[in-house]
Amino acid sequence: HTARFTLDPAFTVGTVDPRLFGSFVEHLGRCVYTGIFEPDHPTADEDGLRTDVLELIRELGVTAIRYPGGNFVSNYRWEDGVGPVEDRPRRLDLAWKTTETNRFGTNEFVSFVRKVGGEAMMAVNLGTRGVPEALELQEYVNHPGGTELSDRRAAHGHPNPHDIRLWCLGNEMDGPWQTGHKTAEEYGRLAAETARAMRQMDKDVELVACGSSGSSMDTFASWEATVLEHCYDLVDHISLHSYYYEQEDDRDSFLASAVDTEAFIEQVVATCDHVGARLKSKKRINLSFDEWNIWYMGGPKAAPVPEQEWGEAPRLLEDNYTVTDAVVFGSLLIALLRHADRVRIACLAQLVNVIAPIMTEPGGPAWRQTTFFPFAAASRHGRGTVLDVRVDSPRHTTARHGEVDLLHATAVRDGESGAVTVFAVNRDRSDGLPLEVALRGTGVSRVVGHEVLSDADPDASNTLAEPERVVPHEGEGAEVADGVLRVTLEPMSWNVIRLA
Ligand code: AHR
Repeated sequence: HTARFTLDPAFTVGTVDPRLFGSFVEHLGRCVYTGIFEPDHPTADEDGLRTDVLELIRELGVTAIRYPGGNFVSNYRWEDGVGPVEDRPRRLDLAWKTTETNRFGTNEFVSFVRKVGGEAMMAVNLGTRGVPEALELQEYVNHPGGTELSDRRAAHGHPNPHDIRLWCLGNEMDGPWQTGHKTAEEYGRLAAETARAMRQMDKDVELVACGSSGSSMDTFASWEATVLEHCYDLVDHISLHSYYYEQEDDRDSFLASAVDTEAFIEQVVATCDHVGARLKSKKRINLSFDEWNIWYMGGPKAAPVPEQEWGEAPRLLEDNYTVTDAVVFGSLLIALLRHADRVRIACLAQLVNVIAPIMTEPGGPAWRQTTFFPFAAASRHGRGTVLDVRVDSPRHTTARHGEVDLLHATAVRDGESGAVTVFAVNRDRSDGLPLEVALRGTGVSRVVGHEVLSDADPDASNTLAEPERVVPHEGEGAEVADGVLRVTLEPMSWNVIRLA
């Protein structure tokens, strides 16, 4: 019952684009207000940003940060969020039935991104708006000066252009819940026209077209094919979104969620390449997995919905993550890394308070959820070249995914130092899993660290009352001998084994 695989630096998947470790800030619940932005907070800086949260975001290691939505963007007027705060209008946010004060907007977001060392990934509204407004936003943020909109930005205190390279052409336009929801034909045309116009302003922008909001959508795959028929030559990436949660107390199926993620990725790759073949194109469309996470959309763990609609920054989607959630979450990270050749961008949805790795209390502390730890470790140690890991593992049967491997794993090799990091999840809830990794030609010979996330209580979590109940611990017994790493993975655990 030993799981095995072989690492060989000659067999690789591809290099990791740092933007695989992106995240997402939406005007939703308390992600922005009392999450990252709280001018009255004791730790707030000159921009009203909570420095306790900024520190945690840096520790988390996020790269690209998507903004301002999400469903929110499809009824958003970017002009409302720039200029003197006292002149900014209060608006209805139709997506989340809240009141948007617009105290935080595009310029504040760009300052925030710079402070955490990230890259802005800006979404344009293709729900209630179209080509002109996308162009106006692009000119406002990126044109150096000498036009009405670029001079307006300078007058708003930002003389230098923000130089935003990465743009999302709308959000989840396939979803009937989306303000301005469209058919694939309608959206494909609009995405193509918007992309064409944005490239007229700047041919080097990087553009993401909306794929499906999930692989269970009725229109999945035909949506991608139709949209790409319209805009294949004009965009760089197509988006994927997916969320998982434990349903009907079926924990084994939940622990195997990444089986679904990997199938989803492979189906989107196949669809993109099918369209490329039909168009006789040599160009390859990459994948932007720009929303992924655990999200309890139903069942007893779903976050409560406030009774009052149209409140300001209410508590929405404040899921509290357990150790089990973090192990599944780690497995989702492994799925992304295993497809790093085509998944060039991925955004953990979201960053603070809203289905988030970081939680805050207004006026109070900030803390790390269980999911914080796998993300931070993957972002820190998962840069370099992904090695082709073909697992030979004991299996078990799950109701939702059929027979699945108990081991889910990947490995990343640092191009400069040659250090190798193995990321591995044991899906077995009751037993440890012996693992042997042949380190053929990698040049590594010793274990320099083994971080484990597991707990005797699979439902343990971090809360305001007990913010450090769950933290990773050092694993025991991993060693390299005769070119083989041997270790026993704890039951239901996430593991980061660093080799040098
Ligand atoms: O991340 C929460 C929501 O999930 C986003 O606003 C939307 O795009 C998706 O349905």
